[in-house]
Amino acid sequence: MTDPARRDGADGPLVVRTPEELRRALADAGRVGLVPTMGALHGGHRSLMRLARERADTVVVSVFVNPLQFGPEEDLDQYPRDLPGDTRLCGEEGVDVVFAPETATMYPRPQMVTVDAGAMGERLEGASRPGHFTGVLTVVTKLFQLVRPDLAVFGAKDAQQIALVRRMVDDLDLPVEIVGAPTLREPDGLASSSRNVYLSEADRASALFLSRALRAGADAATGGTVAVREAARAVLDEAARATPPVELDYLALVDPATFADAADDHRGDAVLAVAARVGRTRLIDNVTVPLRT
Ligand code: PAF
Repeated sequence: MTDPARRDGADGPLVVRTPEELRRALADAGRVGLVPTMGALHGGHRSLMRLARERADTVVVSVFVNPLQFGPEEDLDQYPRDLPGDTRLCGEEGVDVVFAPETATMYPRPQMVTVDAGAMGERLEGASRPGHFTGVLTVVTKLFQLVRPDLAVFGAKDAQQIALVRRMVDDLDLPVEIVGAPTLREPDGLASSSRNVYLSEADRASALFLSRALRAGADAATGGTVAVREAARAVLDEAARATPPVELDYLALVDPATFADAADDHRGDAVLAVAARVGRTRLIDNVTVPLRT
């Protein structure tokens, strides 16, 4: 890091826009921790930054709304963008460098070579958002190449994403440690998300059914997989009758190693994951359910 005095965040982080500026900023950086983000930073991102801050000499936050992971009908254009606000928040968390490249810097021509997420990338989020995880893994690989971090922190709210990133790092022998950060929740249980800014007051009330369904499922863990699925489903049936209704995309109890449906006799941890639309906002959430009996 060329300017260690910035590490207390007092002067704000160094904002760099190009790979060359990034390289200069990270000369002599020591142990580098990367927090990849698409901006619109919130409390959940703060907790990722704090984990990176504890483990690294230099913390880099990337802010890049990655077009490759959005489908043609998705919210790429509307996705919230606020680099000045994001930079301020990074300063408050003692982040050293914000890497905020332009789209043309990351993708100067159509991306021909991409990272295939395999079968795990076609389930759940991948089934609902074809090509999404290819886009995610491709940009994460590019960020790893540009930043060369010793560790990278991802949030557990995107359970399938972090599982795929871990799998990619193993399968491709990438020299980076992946650190998972627990999902940050609002006091009422809603998982923190950049997309929460889209929610009206009424949407937000309906959105709470997601975390309630997951809690109900987790509370039924001693009854096994069938009980977990039934308990969560009962809450979502009620949610479908709320105003506005919660329009379920999927509810699934899956094996965390593959994201395939957990077998009826599954033992060990399983992931109970939900995706639904409330108003015009698509939300996802998940919990880990220990199945011991
Ligand atoms: O989780 C996100 O915000 C994005 O998917 C990521 C990892 C920054 C890649 O664009």
